[in-house]
Amino acid sequence: MRTIDWVDGAIEIIDQTALPGELRILRLHTVGELVAAIQSLAVRGAPALGVAGAFGVALAAKVHADDPAALEIAVERVSGARPTAVNLARGARRAARRLPSFDAVLAEACAVRDEEIAASSAMAARGADLLVELCGARPRLLTHCNTGGLAAVTLGTALGVVHELHQRGHLAGVVASETRPLLQGARLTSWELSQWGIEHRVAVDSAGPFLMARGEVDAVIVGADRICANGDVINKVGTYAHALGARRAGLPFVVVAPESTVDPDTATGLDVPIEDRGSAEVTPWAEAVNPAFDVTPYDLVTAIVTDQRVIRPSATA
Ligand code: MRU
Repeated sequence: MRTIDWVDGAIEIIDQTALPGELRILRLHTVGELVAAIQSLAVRGAPALGVAGAFGVALAAKVHADDPAALEIAVERVSGARPTAVNLARGARRAARRLPSFDAVLAEACAVRDEEIAASSAMAARGADLLVELCGARPRLLTHCNTGGLAAVTLGTALGVVHELHQRGHLAGVVASETRPLLQGARLTSWELSQWGIEHRVAVDSAGPFLMARGEVDAVIVGADRICANGDVINKVGTYAHALGARRAGLPFVVVAPESTVDPDTATGLDVPIEDRGSAEVTPWAEAVNPAFDVTPYDLVTAIVTDQRVIRPSATA
């Protein structure tokens, strides 16, 4: 099942705010509906956001084909709906290059979708090979946030590697870090692993480094929202703490992300706009600071697996 697709003239998504309680499909007919879905995280995860951005331009082209000013505003709204994952603006810009033709925009958006599907398969195979090389035949993994098919179109990035290891009979265990405050790990990763029949345990985020120190994890495997030119990795807040824990315990810290997440135009993590999602998601009792992402410096990263290559940013550190 695809997390996001173009079906009968509209975008269809799995509503990720309803999982794991309900598998609900939403149809999005307007740019306004899409922007709301992106901002509420009904559709989320870097590769899926890239596809959403591209299909969003198709929605705009359908309505405003004869109005360049309206088209420009719509493309800006889609691109800027969330600031951190590079895929969103990149997907929208790529489709926008085919404006004003609706057919050409839709064809480009479908190509973005198809490339993400192919990228997931390529990353799964390459990542599984690397994990076995780094950890031996049956690694026990810890993952953070949700990086499965829900975050891509099918299969996913880091969780696609987990799936591939399981398929090969090479997975000894997986811990899903719960991912405060919106629980992408406890709700979404756990749901996907259950769908795939993969046994797993959920841990509170702060338990991750301790589980590593206690020898219960062989490697950390995560996705990314943006990979900077110097190899800094932007991912869901909490990733940096896991990377520090992995370094202290002497464990590999592996990032899995498609080339569409690699951003040579952003020099370092300091240059990335980190979305702050406000107090209400964290606590009703006090003012909160709520960065949705953090920066893992390149020297803590053992390897970045893309659909085309393995990058070893810490080798140059
Ligand atoms: O705020 P979210 O849920 O969109 O954040 C998603 C993540 O941080 C994922 O780890 C990242 O997009 C990689 S998903 C393949």
